[in-house]
Amino acid sequence: MAVTNHLVYVKQRPNGMPALDDFGSKEVTISEVPDQYVLVKVDTLSVDAFIRTTLDDAGLHTMSDLGAPVTALGVGEVMESQFPGLQSGDWVCGPLMAQTHALMPGAAFQKIEPSANIPPSTYLGILGLTTGITAWAGMVRVGEVQADDVVVVSGAAGAVGTVAGQLAKARGARVIGIAGGAEKCNFLTRELGLDAAIDYKGEDIVSRLNTLAPDGVNVFFDNVGGEILDHVLDNLAMGARVVICGAISQYQDLHDVRGPKLYLRLAERNASMRGFTVDYYAPDFPAANEELSRLMTEGKIKLPEHVVNGVDQFPQALLTLFNGGHRGKLVVKP
Ligand SMILES: NC(=O)c1ccc[n+]([C@@H]2O[C@H](COP(=O)([O-])OP(=O)(O)OC[C@H]3O[C@@H](n4cnc5c(N)ncnc54)[C@H](OP(=O)(O)O)[C@@H]3O)[C@@H](O)[C@H]2O)c1
Repeated sequence: MAVTNHLVYVKQRPNGMPALDDFGSKEVTISEVPDQYVLVKVDTLSVDAFIRTTLDDAGLHTMSDLGAPVTALGVGEVMESQFPGLQSGDWVCGPLMAQTHALMPGAAFQKIEPSANIPPSTYLGILGLTTGITAWAGMVRVGEVQADDVVVVSGAAGAVGTVAGQLAKARGARVIGIAGGAEKCNFLTRELGLDAAIDYKGEDIVSRLNTLAPDGVNVFFDNVGGEILDHVLDNLAMGARVVICGAISQYQDLHDVRGPKLYLRLAERNASMRGFTVDYYAPDFPAANEELSRLMTEGKIKLPEHVVNGVDQFPQALLTLFNGGHRGKLVVKP
């Protein structure tokens, strides 16, 4: 069967914050599915912070070639398969890229089993590698969150942060989210049930932390880095665990990353700071899936989706990730 694939590609390497001109779009015809390949109709694409680093020539992650589709994880339905492990009608999750149709080796994908209660995009969100599973690995394995801990999450109204905060809450911790703007802070306390929220754009983080966590912070789950990391380091409790999940404030120039000035607080407070990549915790994925699925079913973890329609809007959606224009999980329906 011949299908028209509409894709968004990297036209030039961004200088700092990406611009819409850094991307192009085109249509290509797919007329044949080679041996071991599958043709997938893309249903939903995940807009992730790591995509920014794939646009550079010295990124943290694999670099996207100029002219190649923009890297993106997604879920979709197999239209045709020459791969023994998959057949037409199966649903898959994997590196589908910013396009409407993907022709790729079947081995690149994981089969998923969406249902009436678990729509396909859940495998990018609460059960997604770069969202729910990342939050679980960071909060449970790296942060070793305990009931009665005081936990702070930065980027708390984003995808990973939303799950991380609710997960810590479900495990009995007292949770303070940091996010940009009063509306996001209301979302954290009123809709997600966090104990408190700090608006880093409108409030003084240091004084708010002193008030909200007078005995210090036990776990800091950091998605943002930069100044916010220093402010929380200054308020660590003895034996605190600082989890470096990411540093979204630093991704526009990886050659000039601002490190923490107050790292000596780690020594003073017998604290630790550990980074992680979610893939490292693959042996724990079944346990993560089990807990996240259960908490989702019990209504203890929710993750609103911010949906952008049209594959051509993928670059605009990526910019939204960096200017804070969404809550919860940002996805594109191509
Ligand atoms: N370690 C791993 O294996 C792993 C895996 C996946 C993701 N991650 C990391 O997880 C973090 C969150 O990713 P996500 O996909 O869930 O994105 P997200 O949180 O849904 O979106 C990013 C949020 O970061 C905030 N932000 C952006 N620029 C900022 C700045 N300069 N200062 C402060 N806040 C800023 C914005 O919220 P506000 O409106 O609140 O500013 C924005 O909504 C990223 O750092 C990512 O790299 C790590």
